[in-house]
Amino acid sequence: MSSLDTAIPAGSLVLVTGATGFLASHITLQFLKRGFRVRGAVRDVKKSSWLLDGPFKSYAESGALELVAVPDLGADGAYDEAIKGVAAILNVAYVTKIVPDPNEVITPSVNAVKSIMNAAMKEPSVKRAVFTGSAVSASALAQGVDNGTIGRDSWNDAVLEAAWAPPPYGLSHAMANYPASKLAAEKEVWKFVEENELPFTVNVVSPAGLTGEPLNKTHIEGPANWVVHAYRGNKQFMDPMLATFYGDVKDVAAIHVAAVLDPEIKNARLQSWGHSAHWNDILAILRKIRPQKKFVDDYPDPQHLKISVDQSDSIALLKKWSDKDGWTSLEDSVVDNINNQYLVD
Ligand SMILES: NC(=O)c1ccc[n+]([C@@H]2O[C@H](COP(=O)([O-])OP(=O)(O)OC[C@H]3O[C@@H](n4cnc5c(N)ncnc54)[C@H](OP(=O)(O)O)[C@@H]3O)[C@@H](O)[C@H]2O)c1
Ligand SMILES: *[C@@H]1O[C@H](CO)[C@@H](O)[C@H](O)[C@H]1NC(C)=O
Ligand SMILES: *[C@@H]1O[C@H](CO)[C@@H](O)[C@H](O)[C@H]1NC(C)=O
Repeated sequence: MSSLDTAIPAGSLVLVTGATGFLASHITLQFLKRGFRVRGAVRDVKKSSWLLDGPFKSYAESGALELVAVPDLGADGAYDEAIKGVAAILNVAYVTKIVPDPNEVITPSVNAVKSIMNAAMKEPSVKRAVFTGSAVSASALAQGVDNGTIGRDSWNDAVLEAAWAPPPYGLSHAMANYPASKLAAEKEVWKFVEENELPFTVNVVSPAGLTGEPLNKTHIEGPANWVVHAYRGNKQFMDPMLATFYGDVKDVAAIHVAAVLDPEIKNARLQSWGHSAHWNDILAILRKIRPQKKFVDDYPDPQHLKISVDQSDSIALLKKWSDKDGWTSLEDSVVDNINNQYLVD
């Protein structure tokens, strides 16, 4: 495994944006374990000091891990300083706030791509840039309808129209802004690739729902903590999305690492969705691992998404770089999501 050729040499410095996040904290840890150095971009260095503790502590003490403040990902030149001397950048941060005004969500997300690309073009050390996309950029993941086969050119453009529908901005905008921001940011990535002779390689990794081990309590408290919604019976989050795909956070992190390190992966749009599943599948696992606990009832007439997606490139990267035969099972990932020190109730 360690004998694989890497696009950047071991020991190189890697910038991870939004390093405190569920996915980004695993990406950070995996790079450190492989002998790379990580600079984590965070909004507030003081509030993020937990990222220098626990499993990260020895790396922080040896100087392999450092944090830098990037308070606003949408600001002009936001990453000009943070990018100095890095061999790779992974843009994992996203605008988490759910608000009606698209200018507060989509615009900064696109600006972040611009400032990363512009900063990287001026920084000769940069060899690779990996952007975290989302399945929702390729498809509405609509329930009960046939959304066919996802390909390189699949885009959920309708959500962009919904988000930019004229004001007054209301609930429908608030719902559309996140997927639209992921889509618009990814399109900006490929626009840069098309319009410039970039001196570095670009890849996009697009997860669907993430499941698995949290490294901080915040990772199981937000709106995107799917398994915890089922665990707590948060129907307002469950009802609108009966079925989707779920990928283990460590697998998706490993694919990000591979998208940086693998010399053969270039201009890839890596759909890394994981398992197709309905809430009833997750509820069945929860009942099995918490036989004493009462959960919400199964939904009637459960149906998986009618959509077909080629994940073979992502699965090949898991094999090549992590020696794993396919995705971590949904059951193992749900167990990691639930059986940990942070979920106490
Ligand atoms: N979770 C999912 O199911 C899922 C599914 C598909 C795609 N994704 C994508 O995967 C990536 C990681 O998701 P996640 O669930 O792991 O994220 P997360 O745990 O919610 O973390 C989000 C990160 O973004 C930072 N952030 C939020 N607003 C920011 C702003 N305005 N400026 C700078 N930083 C900001 C947060 O910093 P603070 O610590 O300061 O709050 C945090 O580090 C994202 O790109 C997301 O779109 C996630
Ligand atoms: C989790 O993160 C918060 C800040 O977001 C921090 O205050 C807390 O100490 C962290 N918890 C652990 C156990 O590291
Ligand atoms: C998915 O299917 C629905 C219903 O047929 C359609 O409205 C939508 O445009 C399709 N495409 C995408 C990208 O989601």
